[in-house]
Amino acid sequence: MTRPPVLVDEPTYAYMEKWAADHGSDMKCIAEVGCWFGGGTQRIWEGLKRSEFAARGGEYHCFDRWVASRRGARKAATGGVFYSGPHLDVAEGEDILPYFTRFTDGLPLTIHQEDDCAGGPPWHGPPPDWFILDACKQTRAKVLRRFYGDFVPKGTIITLLDLWWLSCREQRKWAKWATREGYLECISDSPQWIFFRVTSPCPVEIRS
Ligand SMILES: C[S@@+](CC[C@H](N)C(=O)[O-])C[C@H]1O[C@@H](n2cnc3c(N)ncnc32)[C@H](O)[C@@H]1O
Repeated sequence: MTRPPVLVDEPTYAYMEKWAADHGSDMKCIAEVGCWFGGGTQRIWEGLKRSEFAARGGEYHCFDRWVASRRGARKAATGGVFYSGPHLDVAEGEDILPYFTRFTDGLPLTIHQEDDCAGGPPWHGPPPDWFILDACKQTRAKVLRRFYGDFVPKGTIITLLDLWWLSCREQRKWAKWATREGYLECISDSPQWIFFRVTSPCPVEIRS
């Protein structure tokens, strides 16, 4: 499969690939929000292929607006911090879903192209066993609120990806708050990612 441009570093992708390989057989539904050109989707599926996920009818839901922002177009053309893969010339405002489908060709994905993933109706689909969020930081809490009612207590794993996770004070504060209140339990973190397990049934509020 041709590699797309990526913004996430190799150790993070390797960790997610291994996580998918190790846990794919226990999962029925995965939701990934903020897929861009599909770099993460590809790697997660490399792990899932070593599990029984697809054979057991697992569903993989992909959410994004798939419209190139000015910054996104610049990064695709010139490279981000962890950029690798081909450079792509896309215009600001261009629909990049065709690139995503090309890079993930043949994978059994359910595509949700939404202008604002933070503003959609509550999910009410199959409960995600793994929820991967790499959309913009500002709307992250809203996205979580949208899906939270369907998360499985003591089951769902939430992965937040962010280049500057540990250097972003607000997010660090949020993670501390959520774990202190007992909504989430941190099971793995690095400067680039944090993995939580959902602990309590449904919080009154998930604050940013
Ligand atoms: C940093 S990129 C994701 C990189 C990707 N995870 C990878 O592995 O290459 C962020 C993505 O989130 C999407 N996005 C950000 N905010 C969004 C929103 N509110 N609604 C829909 N998509 C959003 C952007 O379109 C972009 O594709």
